[in-house]
Amino acid sequence: MTNTAHNTESPLYVDTLYQGINSFQWRELFDIVEKKGFSEKRKALFSGKKINQSENRAVLHTALRNLQGDPVLVDGEDIMPAIQTVWRQIEQCCNKFVGITDIIHIGIGGSDFGPRLVCDALWTDDSVAKTSVNVHFLSNIDSADLARTLARAKPQSTRVIIVSKTFTTLETMQNAQSVLKWLTEAKLTKTQLSNLLYAVTTNTDAALQFGVKEENILPFWDWVGGRFSVWSAVGLPIALKFGFDTFKQFLAGAHAMDQHFLNAPIEQNQPLALALSLYRNQLKRDVKSQAIIPYAQALNLFPTWLQQLEMESNGKTFGLDHQPVATSSVSVFGSAGTNAQHSYFQMLHQGTQVVPVDFIAIKAPLSNLPCAEEHHRQLIANCLAQSQALAQGFRHPTDQNHTYSGNRPNTLIWLARLDAYNLGALMALYEHRTFCLGVLYGVNSFDQPGVELGKKLAKPIDQALANPEDTNLLAGFDDITKSRIQWFNLP
Ligand code: F6P
Repeated sequence: MTNTAHNTESPLYVDTLYQGINSFQWRELFDIVEKKGFSEKRKALFSGKKINQSENRAVLHTALRNLQGDPVLVDGEDIMPAIQTVWRQIEQCCNKFVGITDIIHIGIGGSDFGPRLVCDALWTDDSVAKTSVNVHFLSNIDSADLARTLARAKPQSTRVIIVSKTFTTLETMQNAQSVLKWLTEAKLTKTQLSNLLYAVTTNTDAALQFGVKEENILPFWDWVGGRFSVWSAVGLPIALKFGFDTFKQFLAGAHAMDQHFLNAPIEQNQPLALALSLYRNQLKRDVKSQAIIPYAQALNLFPTWLQQLEMESNGKTFGLDHQPVATSSVSVFGSAGTNAQHSYFQMLHQGTQVVPVDFIAIKAPLSNLPCAEEHHRQLIANCLAQSQALAQGFRHPTDQNHTYSGNRPNTLIWLARLDAYNLGALMALYEHRTFCLGVLYGVNSFDQPGVELGKKLAKPIDQALANPEDTNLLAGFDDITKSRIQWFNLP
C-alpha cells in the first residue's frame, strides 16, 4: 500500500498509516486478494452477474446511483429506465407532499437504518435546505415505538410510507396495521386514507392487497439487497426532508466512490485497503471485533447502519464452495466520539483483546454557532490523540497501570465536510469494504439465511403466549423455553 490511499478520484481521504503495515506486507495482501479472484469478482458485481448464488440474483445497488444512466443489463434487459422512472416518482412525491406535516416511515433493518442515518446526519448541514416536514421512523414491534410516533404525528396531514422489500416482515406489517387503525379512528374517509398511504417494495401485489393505490407504490427489485437499499426509493424520506437535488447529491457521492472502487488500482483502492487491513488483523492478531468511531454527533447512527451491512453480509460459517470458512465477519460496534471515549475506550487502550478502530473525522465544523470552530478543534484534537495513543502507546517508567501497550491498529477517514455527497461516498466506501471482505472470507455477502430460524420459532411461541389455557401448544418446546412461556403467562 502506498501508506495513504490519497486518491484524487475518491471524495474521501483514507489514512491507514497507524495500521503498521509495510509495503512488503501490503504486497502480500494484494497477492492474497488477487488469488481469491478479486478483480474478476469486482467486475462481476458491477456487470450484473448473479453473484448472489444462493438466491440466483444479481447485486446491483451500484446501478441505483448510476446517474449518467449508462445501460446496466440484467438477463439481457437494461434496468436503467426502470430506475429512472422511480427517480421521477420520488421527485413527484417531493412536489406532492408540500403542506404535509408528518411522514411516518414504517420499516425495519435495511428498510430503516439507511434513511434514518442519512436524515439524522444531514440535519446538521446548514447548507442543505430542509422542508418543515417531520419524518418519524417507526421500526420496532415494541408498542412504545408506535405510541411515541403517534403522539407526535397529526393524522389529517400525515403521509404513511410502508417500506419493506418483501412486504411480509412481521414488525412492519404489524406497525402498518396499527397505524392504519389509528388513522381510521381519526375518522378519515376511505379516500383520504388511500391517498395518504404509500409503499416501497418489490412485492407490489402484497402492497395492493394491503390497500395501497397503484400510483402510490414505488417499486424496487430483487437485485437490491435490503441493507444496500437506501439508494432506491427506500431513501424517499431523504428526498422529502432535504429535497430531490440533495438526494441526487447523495447518489452522486456514492457513484463517485463506485468509480473509484471500480477503476483505482488495487494499491490505491480505499475500500480494499480498509478490508485488507481488517483481514490482516484477524489473521495476525486474532481480532474478533472492530470499533467504528465517527467524531461527529450527526454520524452517531453510522455504526448501527454498518453493523447490519457487515454482520448480516459476512457473518457466515460456510463459504461459496460450501466448505467451512477460516474466518468471517468481526462484530462491529461504535458510537460518536468524544462520547465513546468516556465509555469503552479504556478497554480499547488496555484490554487484553486487540480491537482495531476506524476513526471518521470531518474537516469543517459541524455547526455555524460562533463557538463552532473552538469546539471543532477540540473534537479533532481528541480524535487525533486517541488514534495516536492507541498506535504509539506510552511506557510509564514505574507504573504498569499507566502503561499503554500501543501497537493497536487504527485507520482515519477524513471527509472535507459532512454533506450529502460525502455521506454517500462514505456509505458506499463501507459497502465496497463489505464486498471485499466477502471475497477475502470466501462467502456470499448477499444472502442472510441465518435470520430465518428465530422468525420461524417466534410464531409457535406467540401462539402459546396468546393461549395460556391450551397446554398442548407447549408440547414442541424444550424445557427452558417452556418454563419461560409459563412464567410469562403467570397471572
Ligand atoms: O430479518 C432480516 C431482514 O430480512 C433484513 O435483511 C432486511 O433488511 C429486514 O429484514 C427487513 O426486510 P423487509 O425490507 O423485507 O421488510
